[in-house]
Amino acid sequence: MGYREIYDGWKADPEGFWMQAAQAIDWDVAPSRALDADRAPLYEWFSDGMVNTCWNAVDRHVAAGHGDRIAIIHDSPVTGTVRHISYGELQTRVASLAGALRARGIGKGDRVIIYMPMVPEALEAMLACARIGAIHSVVFGGFAAHELAVRIDDATPKAVIAASCGVEPGRVVHYKPLVDAAIAQARHKPDFCVIFQREQEVATLIPGRDLDWHAFQYGVTPADCVPVEGNHPAYILYTSGTTGAPKGVVRPTGGHLVALDWTMQAIYNVQPGEVFWAASDVGWVVGHSYICYAPLIHGNTTVVFEGKPVGTPDAGTFWRVIAEHDVRSFFTAPTALRAIKREDPDGLLMADYDLSHLRALYLAGERADPDTILWAQKALNIPVIDHWWQTETGYTIAGNPLGIEALPVKIGSPTVPMPGYDVRILGEDGHEVPAGTLGAITVKLPLPPGTLPTLWNAEERFVKSYLTTFPGYYETGDAGMCDADGYLYIMARTDDVINVAGHRLSTGAIEEVLAGHPDVAECAVIGVADALKGQLPLGFLCLNRGCTRSAAEIVKEEVARVRDQIGPVAAFKLACVVERLPKTRSGKILRATMGKIADGQDFKMPATIDDPAILDEIRAALQPLGYARG
Ligand code: COA
Ligand code: AMP
Repeated sequence: MGYREIYDGWKADPEGFWMQAAQAIDWDVAPSRALDADRAPLYEWFSDGMVNTCWNAVDRHVAAGHGDRIAIIHDSPVTGTVRHISYGELQTRVASLAGALRARGIGKGDRVIIYMPMVPEALEAMLACARIGAIHSVVFGGFAAHELAVRIDDATPKAVIAASCGVEPGRVVHYKPLVDAAIAQARHKPDFCVIFQREQEVATLIPGRDLDWHAFQYGVTPADCVPVEGNHPAYILYTSGTTGAPKGVVRPTGGHLVALDWTMQAIYNVQPGEVFWAASDVGWVVGHSYICYAPLIHGNTTVVFEGKPVGTPDAGTFWRVIAEHDVRSFFTAPTALRAIKREDPDGLLMADYDLSHLRALYLAGERADPDTILWAQKALNIPVIDHWWQTETGYTIAGNPLGIEALPVKIGSPTVPMPGYDVRILGEDGHEVPAGTLGAITVKLPLPPGTLPTLWNAEERFVKSYLTTFPGYYETGDAGMCDADGYLYIMARTDDVINVAGHRLSTGAIEEVLAGHPDVAECAVIGVADALKGQLPLGFLCLNRGCTRSAAEIVKEEVARVRDQIGPVAAFKLACVVERLPKTRSGKILRATMGKIADGQDFKMPATIDDPAILDEIRAALQPLGYARG
């Protein structure tokens, strides 16, 4: 069957479609129905089934005789090591860690925060939580202590599992002091911390609170898999919203298993036993879904890569990993390819490696610019597939399902909606707009299995953020259009979220930090175009009246404050001091207009602007930074 038949088949009988897909999962108690619409517009899937994620990702493959198959390849150019872990070994290691967590009182529903770099132990920690029904929340290593503290207070974990350090090119990231600072800042205090000591840096443990990863597992009884309800939260993953407070996206267990397994064949076109690699980080949704869970659920080998596309040691690293580990399907962010293209524009380093087994390259996390797609198509001579999704959904909303049918690629479009997603482009009045017209991209409810049923501890915020603007539809926060062939085009965010090197950041969160400076009266942050990272944050600062300190000094302090409070991942390095900010007569800051000026784009003078002359001041302030030159 082709894409159209499958999509139409899903639309005609969504429950039948997902019940059929659910058969690929081992259930302790099979669900009697797919959709639970009792609390519509809040929906759940497979709620009356009983299932365990770790069993499906690990144990069932061992039970089926594949214990010797490699589950995880850790390829770490930053530490100069490559390590293989079989499914059998993974089972032993995860059962032991889960047993040790259980012995310390962690059980079903308890939260555990994981703060680790790209090491297999990060996946083991996630799976150990899943094994005993605990709910993990992984925090990206590039976030600073304050961001970790915010997540500790929201998730109220019983335990934190961390590594002693991460390794970035040229520097060791001291994770343990960040954990200590975060716990000191947080109101909620976890009962204990488990520290995985890496040889690059052995951290000092706090007696009575910190436990050594190995020592605390000594002599424990390994834990068996605990079946949980299909709607039990598998994990919480915090992502940026409009305000500084991150949103805790909840991932439900049953739908997550069913949907991810389905995508591995239908979208990524891999068979069990083949090697799949997503070059992302476990701290992001791509890492959750496609470094950890989906490849393991599907019985693939997953690559945990601890390095960068360039500089570890060169722009040929990705190609080396693909050749050396026989990767069949590869997923990365456009920004990583742009970094490679900049260093090796003619793709000369590819010639050193046998890439003949690679079937396709998948791009997501940000808009895939045509130049990058064309470069990759030419250099690799395989399909380059842009696909669009979000932390909230956990997998593809729109893509090109190579495992079903390779649809013609239209550069600039992530192709078509996947089964499960009834995508509609709505105008401000809530009505569908004609093909080719820009509007808000929405999905008609219910969302498919595995997508967020709510936000952690924040049902009202969930309803307000996603379900209120267009009743009956999920608001993605992206704007775009659909063409006459049903291809989608994702053009921009409709909120204050920006995308920096494939990382989703809230300008509101950065503004909160900037506003905390004693000399700053008012501020605004916008995303400006960047040839490598897609976007970069840029801050405008209005100083307190009478402040006589130099602008350069204050900018430097603000850059340091953002790095210290949000983390290096914010890549906040650009700011300027202005007398005033452009606003509407009702006081709303015109961020979008400033963004257009910075990027040298045409813009319509907002009818409600308070004083148009301010825009010239903004332009003048941006020019020394290399912007507003168009
Ligand atoms: N722990 C600690 N610090 C981290 C980190 C981590 N896990 N990840 C990134 N950082 C730091 C970096 O060291 C850098 O610090 P610096 O300001 O001291 O140089 C800063 O955060 C910004 O990092 P990054 O955005 O990675 O920029 P970069 O200049 O180091 O590298 C790219 C540029 C394009 C190579 C890189 O951004 C990249 O590989 N992007 C792919 C992104 C991706 O996979 N996204 C997932 C979505 S699918
Ligand atoms: P995240 O939740 O971090 O995965 O970020 C999701 C957001 O990234 C989406 O809402 C889009 O704004 C953007 N995004 C992700 N993938 C794509 C894509 N293929 N094309 C355009 N934008 C994308």
